[in-house]
Amino acid sequence: MVAASTLTPAPNPTASGGEPPVQSLIWTQDLGREHGFEPLRVEGTLPKQLRGTLYRNGPGQFGQFGRRYSHPFEADGAAQAIRIADGAATGASRVHQTAGLVEERAAGKIKYGLSAPWPTRLANMWRGRNKNTANTNIIVWQGRVFALMEAGRPTEIDPRDLSTLGETDLGGVVGEMFSAHPHRVASRNALYNFGLEYGRNTKLHLYELPDVGAARRIGTVDLGYPPMLHDFIATDTHLVFLVSPTRVNVPRMMTATGTFEQLFQWKPEHGTEVLCVPIDRPAEVLRFTTDAFYQWHFANAWTRANELVIDYVRYADFGSFRGIGQIGAGGGRELLGEGRYHRAVVDLAARTLTSEQLSDRACEFPTVAPGDEGREHRLAYAVFGDLGGIGAIDGAGRVVEHALPEGERATEPLFADGYLLTLTHARDAAYVGVYDAARIPDGPVAKVWIDHHVPITFHGTFAPDRG
Ligand SMILES: [Fe+2]
Repeated sequence: MVAASTLTPAPNPTASGGEPPVQSLIWTQDLGREHGFEPLRVEGTLPKQLRGTLYRNGPGQFGQFGRRYSHPFEADGAAQAIRIADGAATGASRVHQTAGLVEERAAGKIKYGLSAPWPTRLANMWRGRNKNTANTNIIVWQGRVFALMEAGRPTEIDPRDLSTLGETDLGGVVGEMFSAHPHRVASRNALYNFGLEYGRNTKLHLYELPDVGAARRIGTVDLGYPPMLHDFIATDTHLVFLVSPTRVNVPRMMTATGTFEQLFQWKPEHGTEVLCVPIDRPAEVLRFTTDAFYQWHFANAWTRANELVIDYVRYADFGSFRGIGQIGAGGGRELLGEGRYHRAVVDLAARTLTSEQLSDRACEFPTVAPGDEGREHRLAYAVFGDLGGIGAIDGAGRVVEHALPEGERATEPLFADGYLLTLTHARDAAYVGVYDAARIPDGPVAKVWIDHHVPITFHGTFAPDRG
């Protein structure tokens, strides 16, 4: 049977004679406890003006029934919500009860993903069925909360207790896939996103989610090849895609064979295709090819005369994906230490992209303040040093940073009302670090503690309470 070779044994924390480090636990150990909103302990002083809910999303369960999923990206998703008001905080933690997970728990066995038995996988492929794990991002749109993963539709979550309401196509608008990386353009009062449709001619569907009114599909680009595409970025005028040469192995996908890592192939000979889609004239897409490189995430972009300026975290290749898979198998490797903050300039007339590395610091999960999205920013925020530091970077590449204590890891800082909010993972606990954005090296002014283990949260959002 093919399936056995794709399974990895559950890591044994005592096998190496000691506790695995936090940077391994956040990729391997299930959410410690599920609960609705309950009071959280605050260390330090929460700013009085900070009012709202921090939502974070990521993996919550890395396997079931004594078997581990083949890659951390196959994990069932979980959300954390931390409500802050009047200097106090409450929090909720919940694994998403997606249709696939509910079905598996009822059946008492893994039925989806690459850890399911091969005949089951093949049947799933024939029937076009998969499990939407909702494990990557979480957004708030028109007061509704949606957990996202790139190979499925949005999963709506009840903000009152984080219970799962179910998958939605946003009124018949969204196709089979809706990327986990919508981007807001502040000046257009809308979120933008894409969704792939794999097939003989793979399509890239483009969506607009306005602050008021219905979601809509604004265009479709025929790609002509099946990429793995995680993120994109938007300016006031353009949606920009840097489509790295990571190709989905369609024969393996169709026959449901091999491991999760084997589903994707790095093909540097194809280069990176640059797609610049005018938001108001999406059929007039400009496309050209440049050097091969990879990026997981963008910080921001803006339009400058006939140029697009794009800040992103660049990798030489797709190797970090394998690194994450190895840590999921108990390898304990540091893995996101190769990304570097870059600024690219696309000349729309010359059809060229030039890219400059701004800093030599390892960097990931970049963001900008909500009002800066789609326009020129002064500072971007990110984690530095392989998830070990919280910081800001300016256009000259100057980094100001707070190095986390040994044994703590964080992702994606979010700017809210002059503060930076991070979810930082410690041993058997996690905390929301609240930093004064103007004094990051001083460390957090407050920590809001979650008293159980929280696996890595990739992305999130802060929904301010203006009431
Ligand atoms: Fe991401």
